[in-house]
Amino acid sequence: MSEISTDKAKDIQNAVALLKKGDVIGLPTETVYGLAGDVFNESAVHKIFAIKQRPFFDPLIVHVAAIEDVNKLVENVPEGARVLMRAFWPGPLTLILPKKKVVSDLVTSGLTTVGVRWPNHPVAQAVIREFGSPLAAPSANLFGRTSPTTAKHVRDEFGGAVTVIDGGPCAVGLESTVVSVTTRETGTEVLIHRPGAVTAQMIRAAFLRAGQTADVREQESEVAPGHLKHHYMPKIPLIIVPEAFAIEGGAATLTDKLKLPAWRPVELKLHPQPELAARKLYSDLRDIEMSGATLIYVRRPYVIPSELWAAVWNRLEKAASHDLSRSLAN
Ligand code: TXA
Ligand code: MG
Repeated sequence: MSEISTDKAKDIQNAVALLKKGDVIGLPTETVYGLAGDVFNESAVHKIFAIKQRPFFDPLIVHVAAIEDVNKLVENVPEGARVLMRAFWPGPLTLILPKKKVVSDLVTSGLTTVGVRWPNHPVAQAVIREFGSPLAAPSANLFGRTSPTTAKHVRDEFGGAVTVIDGGPCAVGLESTVVSVTTRETGTEVLIHRPGAVTAQMIRAAFLRAGQTADVREQESEVAPGHLKHHYMPKIPLIIVPEAFAIEGGAATLTDKLKLPAWRPVELKLHPQPELAARKLYSDLRDIEMSGATLIYVRRPYVIPSELWAAVWNRLEKAASHDLSRSLAN
């Protein structure tokens, strides 16, 4: 990541002044842009929910700029969580931890836990440090919609209602991996509630390096609506089709199935490298949406070759209105 320029320093000062007034700002992180506000200011937290049109049952995650900051938010940190902080912070990993009373129920939707993350982006870190306190920040998109990976995406989503700091395009492009860590008599158990760039394999390796073992499993939780069936959705239908689907030959079947009269389908072509596919995913979805297309389709490979690919497909499956990859033979 580059050094912060004088211009950027002014943007950061301006953003910190807004945060001190209880406003919210668009904040670049390495995963996606966040809609950030003072976690300890109830009215700022209210604004986040209002601007996003987010239901109050979906908890916010909180961003810090040092491991010590976690103590401002959390009762106690299990040893297993410390292993993960040391291995992956700053980075795309959110830890669900027991919250302190000072963290309001509004932030956590009444849960006794709070999600905490130290983002790996110089602008996010500078804003949190200058502000001097943790920031609540969900992804900066309307509830249920595609996450933003550029400052322009945030402006397109909220117009002039939100001041955004431009920190360039996000390097990761997928939201952070969300995990909870429990210490059991038999050892540490890590549950992955949302897959992301920090994978189960990487988590297992981190425990091994620390001389420990951990049982690491995926378990999408119902308490976290990011895990609802539909999420991350573009404004036009996204259809998953089988890998070998021939759109010309298959068009009749598609129009038939979807009852779409005049339509202009555009294929979302994923980059063959998973890191780049993840980075470009939301940008490409938004570009196609703006291009006048009426439908997006994407080919699902028969085999999902890696955990990062699985994270990309986790988002696509939730963003899709229809998944024809299993039902349509071509
Ligand atoms: O990469 C990211 O995580 C981005 C950037 C801005 O940091 N943020 C983000 O926030 O994706 P959001 O709110 O869009 O997604 C956070 C997810 C939601 O699905 C929420 O339900 C879940 O984390 N979550 C938050 N607090 C939780 C908790 N205490 N227990 C379980 N899930 C929680
Ligand atoms: Mg989100």
